[in-house]
Amino acid sequence: MEENKKIEKTMDDIISLSKRKGFVYQGSEIYGGLAGAFDFGPLGVELLNNIRSFWWKEVVQKREDYYGLDSAMFKHPKVWEASGHTSGFSDPLAECRNCNTRIRVDKELMNIGVVADEKMSEEEINKLFEENKDKIKCHNCGKKDFSRARNFNMLIKSNYGDFTEKGSEPVYLPGEACQGIYLNFKNVIDSMHPKFPFGIAQINKAFRNEISPRNFLFRCREFEQADTQYFIRPNENKDKYEEIKQERWQWYLDLGLSEEKLRWHQHENLVFYAKDAWDIEYNYPTYGFDELEGIHDRTDYDLTQHSKFSGVDLSFNEDGNKFVPWILETSVGLGRIFLAVLSEAYTKEQVGDETRVVLKFPKKLAPIKVAFLPLSKKDELAEPTKELFNSMKDKFVCQYDETQSIGKRYRRQDEIGTPYCVTFDFDSLEDNSVTVRDRDTMEQERIKIEELEDYLTTKLNN
Ligand code: GAP
Repeated sequence: MEENKKIEKTMDDIISLSKRKGFVYQGSEIYGGLAGAFDFGPLGVELLNNIRSFWWKEVVQKREDYYGLDSAMFKHPKVWEASGHTSGFSDPLAECRNCNTRIRVDKELMNIGVVADEKMSEEEINKLFEENKDKIKCHNCGKKDFSRARNFNMLIKSNYGDFTEKGSEPVYLPGEACQGIYLNFKNVIDSMHPKFPFGIAQINKAFRNEISPRNFLFRCREFEQADTQYFIRPNENKDKYEEIKQERWQWYLDLGLSEEKLRWHQHENLVFYAKDAWDIEYNYPTYGFDELEGIHDRTDYDLTQHSKFSGVDLSFNEDGNKFVPWILETSVGLGRIFLAVLSEAYTKEQVGDETRVVLKFPKKLAPIKVAFLPLSKKDELAEPTKELFNSMKDKFVCQYDETQSIGKRYRRQDEIGTPYCVTFDFDSLEDNSVTVRDRDTMEQERIKIEELEDYLTTKLNN
């Protein structure tokens, strides 16, 4: 079959469809919005859950060497001291002297092609900032007059349990999800008795006071991280690190992202305790290649620090050989995967003299799998269609729709990425068959109602 002509897509197309079709809304929109916070709508939550389930299934349930976890978000204040977040979790911030708009200096430098990142010291970043100050403009007023860059701590404080005491240590919202895994390392060993090496995985929220949340779901102040921490014997990192990198790459291909839109990026500046750090980047429409997931060799830093600050020995004893495990970490924001999946699926194509917008999701990720559509609203068609819909609800995530013409309903389902539409027409009353339309090819097939469930199951699992 001849391919329809594809029309270039932009991130604005995707953002606008996300809102229009109930995937993502700006957080607190009726109050003018809250920067860096987003709400997932009825279809967004289905898509997010499908991505989450696919991650959990592949990373935890199908693996014998990984254990799942869901730790409390609030943690003892000492956790963030031990991890180094209270002293070192910061981004370089500068302020426009004219209008007080804040900028993140490393990102601004990167945008003009200067190699910089948040791990540089204040001196290093200010030197580069000074050398390039003529090239960086305030986004708000256009002036090029900024304060010196200073490190701004991104942890967000809460008043958890803070009733009367003045000066007690603040309980922070988690700056990264992985700390909950380190806190439960000993619990998992004592309760599950894993063989070494092994991993612990969890999906949990993280909060960061990002200086300039931007690019839709890409950089938020509240987001969810899907993390694995793999515990290995000291210095066994090299081979295992490569293996984990390859597994994560393959996971994205299995998820349905195309390989030419992915690439590796190795970090030049490492945090002092890390041995190596690589990102898998995705080529987002409009934004270009940017970080999707980070894969880090964290050495024995985390467990050593938590042993020191908690006073609890977190070393592992293997046949009398005691050691502090090294950690290989994978960490990805679910929102960034969501954005990559939406970007990959979004297709604008010319069909005759019409433009068709269709989300070509992999079937396993589609929020709605099947739509049931009576050819007309008349009771004689609507009633049996509803019956059919009710009989399938248990098997597939379905939708029933009877409003407007059948052509318009097909387009509506295309726009939300429903792989199959089932139409019940006047002939169905006679031949006990329905028309099944394929989202991607738009081809239609006549299927006996008694065979429909098997037909859809095979197609959806294919
Ligand atoms: N525990 C390691 C860690 O948190 P990170 O590189 O800061 O490392 C890991 O974050 C991943 O979390 C990133 O690759 C990205 O997918 C996601 N992420 C980080 N900051 C984010 C933000 N502000 N908004 C959305 N996702 C974010």
